[in-house]
Amino acid sequence: MSNIHTIILAAGKGTRMNSSKPKVLQTLSDATLLDHVLKQAKLISQQVHVVYGFGGDQVKQVINDDTINWVEQTEQLGTGHAVHQATPHIEDDSISLILYGDVPLIQRETLEQLINASKASGIALLSVVLKDPMGYGRIIRNNNAVQAIVEQKDASDEQLKICEVNTGIMAVQTKLLKKYLAGLNTNNAQGELYLTDIIESATSDQKTVASVITTDEFEVAGVNDKTQLAQLERIFQHRKATQYMQLGLSLKDPSRFDCRGDLSFGKDCEIDFNTLIEGVVTLGNNTTIAPNCCIKNSKIGDNVSILANSVIEDAVIGNGALIGPFARVRPQTNIGENAKIGNFVEVKKSTVGKGSKISHLSYVGDAILGADVNIGAGVITCNYDGVNKHQTIIHDGAFIGSDSQLVAPVTIGKNATIGAGSTITKTSPEGQLTLSRSKQVTMKSWQKPSKK
Ligand code: UD1
Ligand code: CA
Repeated sequence: MSNIHTIILAAGKGTRMNSSKPKVLQTLSDATLLDHVLKQAKLISQQVHVVYGFGGDQVKQVINDDTINWVEQTEQLGTGHAVHQATPHIEDDSISLILYGDVPLIQRETLEQLINASKASGIALLSVVLKDPMGYGRIIRNNNAVQAIVEQKDASDEQLKICEVNTGIMAVQTKLLKKYLAGLNTNNAQGELYLTDIIESATSDQKTVASVITTDEFEVAGVNDKTQLAQLERIFQHRKATQYMQLGLSLKDPSRFDCRGDLSFGKDCEIDFNTLIEGVVTLGNNTTIAPNCCIKNSKIGDNVSILANSVIEDAVIGNGALIGPFARVRPQTNIGENAKIGNFVEVKKSTVGKGSKISHLSYVGDAILGADVNIGAGVITCNYDGVNKHQTIIHDGAFIGSDSQLVAPVTIGKNATIGAGSTITKTSPEGQLTLSRSKQVTMKSWQKPSKK
């Protein structure tokens, strides 16, 4: 079987993006446009060649992949010229597949069909039928057989009525490709070397040009500006949501679900509107996520309830836990089974034991909490002395009264009680009440100031 070499054209500047980044580095979901194309290309080819031009160093640096053969096109003299930069690096006895760095939703299955179609005759193109073909190269057929591609600017009025257009994606036996590229000229309206002219060369050469017509206009849609980028983002997200729903995830509104990464889930999980999933997130069985939550790189157990407006990152949440509303669970946090992290609570780099509760308005950082600890409203672990971070250890069953400050490093013993409003700086013994408050006094001689 012949090797497949994929040539990805990515030399365009993308002026209409109005960005300092080269177009192919704009992001769709969690990856650049070029990354999306590379991912599909790598699934089916032995070698990938990327033709770069504008902002090339930036592209190479961001993609950072040395399995790619990077080929520079210093001047953009047309798509034929661009492909011609790569072909010297490709052996004759192979198939060259031409893709575009700004066509991110192309699917592997379609490319496989195209490659297979190219095997018999040596050349195959991918076309699509559009309601509005404006701007695209038109596919000229004669008795159904592809004859040529005529660019918008070179087409006659009659040809402009054709709605079957060239996606630009082709699979060609490399030996033939090299031969036809060598014969290209710039006798056209744009004075460019058109890749599309190889179709006419092939028909003159008595070859039958095979074609695959995709019914999915989005998989061949290019991105030229931020509006098109946003459109494809929605398509991408909608497809991901559909895939998850088919696997059993309940989404209250798939049009308000975004996943920039990978979500896996057990049975009967339900996600309400406006959720953002990033990185790798797993949900156990029967877990629910209320509106407006952001969850990144976290493992959430079974029967967990994440209430509205909560943000969770790099954390592990145990079975039966209750998070939110308005909770912030920061990296390196482990929330135990049936624990509760309530509203306006921030937890960072901490372990919260089984059944422990931090219900209201607290900051818990660099702390280890045992099981069944109760943290009253407004408790703060003072973990930072202005230079270093220190740890707070709270043993099983301890009760920390509201509005207390635990100045780390500090340890609270098992079943200890801290009186409300205390500032605790020393070890508080097991089973006893510790508090640090000034005595309450009422000033008998005090008088309300009078207005002057
Ligand atoms: C091209 C096709 C047209 C097709 C359309 C689909 C040609 C002559 N025309 O037209 O039939 O319908 O794509 O979108 O091929 N590029 C380079 N180097 C160059 C020129 C282009 O890397 O010298 C890259 C661009 O960055 C772009 C892609 O190739 O990603 C297409 O080039 P563009 O000039 O936009 O071609 P179209 O006019 O859209
Ligand atoms: Ca284009």
